[in-house]
Amino acid sequence: MTMASYLLCIPVSCAGAGCRDIDMSRIIHLFCVVIYLDLLYCVNASVLDNVLDSKVCFKNGFLFGVATASYQIEGAWNVSGKGESIWDRYTHEHPERVFDHQNADTADASYYKVKEDVRVMKEMGISLYRFSVSWPRILPNGMSNEINEDGLRYYHELLDELKLNGITPVVTMYHWDLPQSLQDLGGWTNPIMADYFVDYARVLLENFGEKVKIWLTFNEPLSFCHDGYGGDDAPGGRSSGFEDYLCGHTVLRAHALVYRLFDNEFRRKNGGVMGITLCFSWMEAATTSAEDQAAAETARQFNLGWFAHPIFSESGDYPPIMRKLVDANSKRQGFPRSRLPYFTPQEVKMLKGSYDFLGLNHYTTYLIKQGSRKLKATPSFLDDMNVKVFQRDDWPKTNSTWLKVVPWGFRKSLNWVRLNYNNPKTLITENGVAFEAGLRDIRRINYIDSYLRSLHDAMFKDGCFVVGYIYWSLLDNFEWMRGFSERFGLYEVDYKSPNLTRTPRLSAKYFTNVAKTGCLPNSYADYTYNSDYSSMQSYGDQDQCV
Ligand SMILES: *[C@@H]1O[C@H](CO)[C@@H](O)[C@H](O)[C@H]1NC(C)=O
Ligand SMILES: *[C@@H]1O[C@H](CO)[C@@H](O)[C@H](O)[C@H]1NC(C)=O
Ligand SMILES: *[C@@H]1O[C@H](CO)[C@@H](O)[C@H](O)[C@H]1NC(C)=O
Repeated sequence: MTMASYLLCIPVSCAGAGCRDIDMSRIIHLFCVVIYLDLLYCVNASVLDNVLDSKVCFKNGFLFGVATASYQIEGAWNVSGKGESIWDRYTHEHPERVFDHQNADTADASYYKVKEDVRVMKEMGISLYRFSVSWPRILPNGMSNEINEDGLRYYHELLDELKLNGITPVVTMYHWDLPQSLQDLGGWTNPIMADYFVDYARVLLENFGEKVKIWLTFNEPLSFCHDGYGGDDAPGGRSSGFEDYLCGHTVLRAHALVYRLFDNEFRRKNGGVMGITLCFSWMEAATTSAEDQAAAETARQFNLGWFAHPIFSESGDYPPIMRKLVDANSKRQGFPRSRLPYFTPQEVKMLKGSYDFLGLNHYTTYLIKQGSRKLKATPSFLDDMNVKVFQRDDWPKTNSTWLKVVPWGFRKSLNWVRLNYNNPKTLITENGVAFEAGLRDIRRINYIDSYLRSLHDAMFKDGCFVVGYIYWSLLDNFEWMRGFSERFGLYEVDYKSPNLTRTPRLSAKYFTNVAKTGCLPNSYADYTYNSDYSSMQSYGDQDQCV
């Protein structure tokens, strides 16, 4: 049995200036969350003394893992009773909107490769595998009156194989592949969808509750609400500043209902923890001017606060600045009520504290300046937020236009979460980078290494409460509107080979080393490290921890 897979339990050091206000005994207590009740193991405070040695180590109990999502890897889109999802429909109807005009009908064929993929994880020595369940594979029509037995069989096969190999599953209930039949009712813009999500969640908790101890309700509502209902992702609503807010409102209610269901009916029987995964790119003020500082804070509230404030803040509900701006703009545009719906007092209460941990996805950083947008008659999320968003040209580029390598933003993001939401227990559920095909991916090693150092500073210098790090992604896969053009995998997938051969990149070797030792290597000799690339800005001595 691997110790790591049984606990979310890690040591912490408190040396940074920002640690003054932290009550260490409370933190140590919080760290000892027993996932499996039959095994109690926890580091004691004396271990905390040796975390300051020069080697960068995460110490016992810190969990490393890799992530995927159903639509992006499974393939088998129309076999054994699976229903159609909004991504099936969208990529079939609009191939021209996808960068390489592809779809994920086959993707990595992971539906057929359970043993092969779990073997790869086992070899890497990781302790967590984060994957998502395809709602239409379990409930072909979206509703729980008809359950697809083969869907249950497939995920049981995967969970059993993981258990056999000592890997703990982290299961996302919803990673964007809504059943098309529910989209035909308006999808997440229809408030009733919260009830259908509860029905689906109940099926998952009843069938997999004994095997799954770490649950995530949703992956990145900001992305699938804003890009899906306000932009170009499936279902392609393109109604920014309106349908995206309706989607967010339903999703937040759905999350809280499922958390309460879990808490009231399943936790005592099965144990386990439940959270939600939110995406947070760091938003740095471009200058020290009061206007730009305020603009950056507004951007953080619109991007993270929209979904985090109702759940993780002490006061609950939407962020006050978002409430104020959207209400005022709606009024000026002549709407009879705010485009951002209101929660009832009961809903505010139900949402507040509806988590055991925060799942955080972090990739990159943006600079923010005061905005100068003229309010138009047609609503838009960007008009409501009204800031200028950009990145520096000299930040290292990657294969994603939106993703520049800015490791210090990771530490700032984590500290902002610590200060605004009372240092919630946090699992990094995604961090990663895409580069062009090739096995000698030195730049990916640099990315992971520099971001892990930033994470280490956030934890051990600032006291941020982070229990694990999950890399996105195990394999190259179907990257939504970018098709197969963006490759995030530690393993390369050869899409030309009939069996979709998986081959480890150099970064897989690096990550294996990190996962097995818990430490970052001092020397990169093994990975032919190119020091010229490490032009990342040092964050080290700045005091962000106040
Ligand atoms: C499933 O989809 C594939 C295309 O990905 C198609 O060739 C095949 O005929 C479909 N099978 C069924 C049973 O509809
Ligand atoms: C990413 O790589 C693909 C495939 O090599 C290429 O077509 C695309 O232009 C690249 N995108 C960026 C932003 O570099
Ligand atoms: C996949 O195909 C390649 C080349 O066709 C072959 O070398 C490799 O052994 C195959 N892998 C598996 C697991 O069958």
